[in-house]
Amino acid sequence: MSDFAARVLDWFDEHGRKDLPWQHDVTPYCVWVSEIMLQQTQVQTVIPYFERFLRSFPDVATLAAAEQDEVLSHWSGLGYYARARNLHKAAQTICSEHAGEFPDDFDAVVALPGIGRSTAGAILSLALGKRQPILDGNVKRVLARHEAVEGWPGANKVAAVLWESASRNTPQRRVAEYTQAMMDLGATLCTRSKPRCLECPVGSDCEALRLNRVAEFPGRKAKKSKPLRSTTMILASHGNEVYLERRPEAGIWGGLWSLPELGERSLDEWCDIELGSLALESRSWEVLRHSFSHYDLDIRPIVVRVDSHASKVADAGSKTWYKLDAAPPGGLAAPVKRLISQLKTNQLSLIK
Ligand code: ADE
Repeated sequence: MSDFAARVLDWFDEHGRKDLPWQHDVTPYCVWVSEIMLQQTQVQTVIPYFERFLRSFPDVATLAAAEQDEVLSHWSGLGYYARARNLHKAAQTICSEHAGEFPDDFDAVVALPGIGRSTAGAILSLALGKRQPILDGNVKRVLARHEAVEGWPGANKVAAVLWESASRNTPQRRVAEYTQAMMDLGATLCTRSKPRCLECPVGSDCEALRLNRVAEFPGRKAKKSKPLRSTTMILASHGNEVYLERRPEAGIWGGLWSLPELGERSLDEWCDIELGSLALESRSWEVLRHSFSHYDLDIRPIVVRVDSHASKVADAGSKTWYKLDAAPPGGLAAPVKRLISQLKTNQLSLIK
């Protein structure tokens, strides 16, 4: 056994979790249900759900025979319901293809709906003591730090390095305890934001710790730089009213009320053509950056005071003069809301 595994196991003997409900009567079925519930969900939340689930569906056959609604109602509140649907489907597959016995062969397990490589490894190692590595979020963090593996684990190349490390470190003996120990180490000591490196059994040769770069591992996904677009928005005001347009249904802010965009025209032209009025005075405000999922938008606001209400604003369904002290005509896009509230504040300070 490697020195790494030996130290992890010694630590487990003293500090590991050994009394969780799925550790009492360890069968592949119980471990499977618990591992699926524990994906994206904390241990303390899972415990009552696990106990209720096992009371209603004590084995694969009972689960397979249940109605989907019944299974989903036991999941109600846990979220990520695809997990429950897959669990149910997999139980039916086990009944039809494996005579109701949870398979003990890695390829058969990983072929079941909702079971990936790490979950398959966890079930086979925890329940049957098979020497299968796991690489869930906790284990990725422990190994990425211990060996200072650069890069985001979601990238195939980085995942391959971590899987190699996971395989190399998994011992021949006491595999179930080692698997549980690695999960526990990641969940309790080697945490994302407040790791307790002084208490860590593998801290003495942790490469990230030696480099004083623990917080940098595992690496994060590189943010794609978004394209930057810009627009000029007009706050045309007359008295305590501002001119709004409703956006077309298709495209950004579809159906929301927004400020008109200047486009290629001059401000005087715009006021004349769109409002049939004259620009009396105008002022630019500071650029406001708004982030969409696929691009950033720099909004350059121009406030313009116009001389009259236009006769042209007849299309009441998509253009309106909005009284600043009244309720908005409908939904407002977030930056538009901000600009309008800034306009309100300015007008109040003028009145005072
Ligand atoms: N998270 C995923 N699997 C776990 C397990 N077996 N024990 C504690 N936390 C876990």
